[in-house]
Amino acid sequence: MSEQRNIIILGASFAGIGSTHYILTHLLPALNAQHEAKYHLYIISPSPDFYYRIGSPRTATSTSLLPQEKLFYPLADAFKRYPASDFTLIQATATSLDTNGRFVCFKRHDSSTTEEESLPYHALIVATGSRTPHPAYSMHTSTEATKIAIKETNTRVKFAKSIIIVGGGPTGVEAAGEIGEFLNGKPGWFSTPTPKVDITLITADSLLLPALRPAIGKEAERQLGKLGVKVLYDRRVVDVSTLKSNSEDEKTILTLSKGEKLETDLYIPAHGVLPNSEWLPKNLLNEKGYLETNKSTLRVDRAGPLIYALGDVASYSRNNALDISDALPTLMINLKRDLLSYSPSTPNATIKGRDRVFQPLMKETQFVPIGSGGGVGAAFGWRVPSWMVWLAKGRDYMLGMAVPGYVEGSNFKKEHKWSVDEAVV
Ligand SMILES: Cc1cc2nc3c(=O)[nH]c(=O)nc-3n(C[C@H](O)[C@H](O)[C@H](O)COP(=O)(O)OP(=O)(O)OC[C@H]3O[C@@H](n4cnc5c(N)ncnc54)[C@H](O)[C@@H]3O)c2cc1C
Ligand SMILES: *[C@@H]1O[C@H](CO)[C@@H](O)[C@H](O)[C@H]1NC(C)=O
Ligand SMILES: *[C@@H]1O[C@H](CO)[C@@H](O)[C@H](O)[C@H]1NC(C)=O
Repeated sequence: MSEQRNIIILGASFAGIGSTHYILTHLLPALNAQHEAKYHLYIISPSPDFYYRIGSPRTATSTSLLPQEKLFYPLADAFKRYPASDFTLIQATATSLDTNGRFVCFKRHDSSTTEEESLPYHALIVATGSRTPHPAYSMHTSTEATKIAIKETNTRVKFAKSIIIVGGGPTGVEAAGEIGEFLNGKPGWFSTPTPKVDITLITADSLLLPALRPAIGKEAERQLGKLGVKVLYDRRVVDVSTLKSNSEDEKTILTLSKGEKLETDLYIPAHGVLPNSEWLPKNLLNEKGYLETNKSTLRVDRAGPLIYALGDVASYSRNNALDISDALPTLMINLKRDLLSYSPSTPNATIKGRDRVFQPLMKETQFVPIGSGGGVGAAFGWRVPSWMVWLAKGRDYMLGMAVPGYVEGSNFKKEHKWSVDEAVV
């Protein structure tokens, strides 16, 4: 039993962390019990910390609203219960994938060597996620860089006399709500305070929150209005330029598609995300740069056997955390089927039995806090009242649930059982 078979996970956010907990708890014991080889899990992450970006619209507004420390969680603590014989965390960035040689290359950040290293995989899960245009709303490179971006945004929010936020999805609406309430104050029962700062939310769309029904987008506009935020629809930003006198009173000029020019003290891009996939072979990506993933099985069929993708980087995902927690059981059942039936003499053999098929949630579901008092949303097709958005998410952006559940792993204590026709042993 001298052969070592590596399971490699790339990226340590929701998808990578969840997969790591699940595999180490449920799959490694079953695989090692086969006594064919020793299995070892590697997770590769550029940063030593997980970043809870879901809370970032509040923390980037002001750390007095939600402390920065709460958004960073050391990965070493999340995984402390796993033995070094089963598990290694490598602080590095994946730089390439060779699907013929079956290895990944990466560059370490925790040592002085700048040379690239490579690691062969038996199975691989790509979970490198996505990044936002603004550096405070997702981890772009390191913990330090993200903390600097938060600090700088806090300072600029505090002193701005005018702010333009671009993007009508949840990030833009949440950021506008937090900033509006922080600068203009909470509305009273009967009064709306006169705005102290001119805050504008711009969207290229004709409504806010396109994943929800139009009436909910309208309600979001109304709630934002009470916090002194104006909404401009059908405006696309075509050019952004900065006027720098000194960094304190830097101004940004936005040119809109209809030729309008707007000047602002603080411009916050909050439109969409980009997949972290530049390091992958181009032939594995779709036209938008996402890793082409079989939407039923979550395998990356084009990359050869035993390669999977989970989360924002994968083409199946609609870039939300629900599409990770909903898909994880499917991926884990199929991974278990593939790994337990693997035979070195027939690595490409079709696996007996039935694959687990992923069924995405198709019902309108999204919670969008607007300030600390409430928000808008729907769950499983049912519109929910403002107080319920506060209760479920607005209080702490769900930190209290996500940290023990996902990061520390209590959500993954129970194994998802395969059915009789999915079983391979
Ligand atoms: C402001 C904001 C609020 C949100 N709120 C919600 C919400 O309320 N509910 C919800 O369901 N979803 C929400 N989302 C979406 C949610 O955050 C994402 O769906 C989720 O974070 C995706 O997780 P992931 O594991 O796929 O990757 P990500 O969270 O994108 O993380 C990817 C990880 O991979 C690492 N990485 C990148 N490149 C490499 C590389 N080359 N090698 C190794 N590692 C790499 C990164 O450092 C990062 O740690 C929100 C998103 C934003 C931006
Ligand atoms: C997804 O995988 C299944 C099982 O291997 C296969 O039958 C199906 O054709 C694949 N789907 C696509 C779109 O390739
Ligand atoms: C398995 O398929 C790969 C291509 O996907 C090929 O390179 C390899 O030779 C095959 N192995 C066997 C033993 O058939």
